[in-house]
Amino acid sequence: MSALTESPAWRALAAHRRKMASASLRDLFAADPERARRCSLDFGEILLDYSKHLADEETLRLLVALAEQADVRGWTRRMFAGDPINASEGRAVLHVALRSDASVFPEGRDVMPLVRAARERMRRFVEDAHRGALTGASGERITDVVNIGIGGSDLGPRMATRALRRHRAPGSPRLHFVANIDPADLDAALEGLAPATTLFVVASKTFTTAETLDNAARARRWLESRLGTGAALGRHFAAVTANEAGAASLGVAPERVFPMWDWVGGRYSVWSAVGLPLALSIGMDRFDEMLEGARDMDAHFRTAPLERNMPVLLALLEIWYVDFFGAQSRVVLPYGEDLRDFPAYLQQLEMESNGKRVDRAGRPVDYATAPVVWGASGTPSQHSFHQMLHQGTALVPADFIVFADRRGGASHAALVANALAQSAALMEGDRTEDPQRALPGDRPSSVIVLERLAPEALGQLIALYEHKVFVEGVIWNINSFDQWGVEMGKRVARTLLPRLLEGGDAAGLDASTRALLARLRGR
Ligand code: F6P
Repeated sequence: MSALTESPAWRALAAHRRKMASASLRDLFAADPERARRCSLDFGEILLDYSKHLADEETLRLLVALAEQADVRGWTRRMFAGDPINASEGRAVLHVALRSDASVFPEGRDVMPLVRAARERMRRFVEDAHRGALTGASGERITDVVNIGIGGSDLGPRMATRALRRHRAPGSPRLHFVANIDPADLDAALEGLAPATTLFVVASKTFTTAETLDNAARARRWLESRLGTGAALGRHFAAVTANEAGAASLGVAPERVFPMWDWVGGRYSVWSAVGLPLALSIGMDRFDEMLEGARDMDAHFRTAPLERNMPVLLALLEIWYVDFFGAQSRVVLPYGEDLRDFPAYLQQLEMESNGKRVDRAGRPVDYATAPVVWGASGTPSQHSFHQMLHQGTALVPADFIVFADRRGGASHAALVANALAQSAALMEGDRTEDPQRALPGDRPSSVIVLERLAPEALGQLIALYEHKVFVEGVIWNINSFDQWGVEMGKRVARTLLPRLLEGGDAAGLDASTRALLARLRGR
């Protein structure tokens, strides 16, 4: 048994879970007419309604005790103080500094001069682009920007650029995103683009990622075949990286290389120059508003009491279902096409951070950690997988995300009505006699209402989930900031590629891979 599962707070929750075995959401609401009000939390641009969760006052009290026992407050202080809490890599975790307006952050190792200088360079670049001063080899204005990156160097800016597409700045270029090593991805992005007016932003913290380097090289060849070789080609590239030498070897001029740092994890980097494509789309003032939103959420997270703390509550409810109800997944349902990429973004944030099976000391854990995060935008999701949410055998807690802003008129109202209807139906169920038609109900969900899909609100929303992930990692006693699990696949792919291209030695490979290589080789 681990220290966590042996701990008083955990054991109290396990005992309480047995008491809650027959609890129903209807009963919880009937017993407390104030439940909807009491179990909702308003902060900034966000309202969190967590009343439709299988949790009573006692549950929440015991969950908060678990957070206290795990010293969530202490770990939060250590993160903001720049302690090397990413112990397996010996690194600080300071994405929070990227949105800070503090003059010194943190004391002892002040990263703010670096952050401010990078923001200033971004601003100049973005302003140049918007006033037409960013030009290609032929002197023509850049009209299209292709971001080449993967994982954290893709998902955050891609999601946010789409989410804020109604906030595009005048004169901003069109944005395109390429991640996959499959050439079809870059080919599709380049369709209809003119080399003379296209800029590539190559985003890679390490500048060693195979997919990104491959796509950057193909982009270069595309430019060369149309514009010819020569130094002026550099006008069609910018890079975001912690590896300046890597960017230089691609031929990116030093003044076009924007910094990243080892104290920012890829999946936490949208606040840095990795957010350059977003800034190019919405302008630096709007980008700053997104930082401000995140900063507000940071302040809320650091100061609000644990029982009225949005990220803490979301984390605790997830732990409640994952570890005490055996839930293996959570579905994320943004009701709004502009936020369509949010589930994919959260998949990396949550599963790469907390998909861990050993604790900080390297001991195997005896409790479940990160659930599968999945989802899609509603209402199309209702005509696809909601059947399973309502009548399937698995318990899948849901996050509904809706926007209060009614600029969409009656259609927007229909969207909101559908979201609320789904959340209510999951809870209520349908007690009809016919077992084929009956819905069991008591299926929990959170409803997150965003005042509007604007930069500040988006900043708050992203930071909300970042801190939720952090709190879970603290309680599960795992390192949320490394990702050793993805390295092996990269290593194996490197050894398989030459064998696929040239054949040769298959010794040392498993029988399945050998057989598949024999079938696919030389095609
Ligand atoms: O493969 C996983 C990963 O290491 C992610 O953590 C990261 O966001 C992504 O690859 C891209 O890495 P880079 O920005 O160094 O190219």
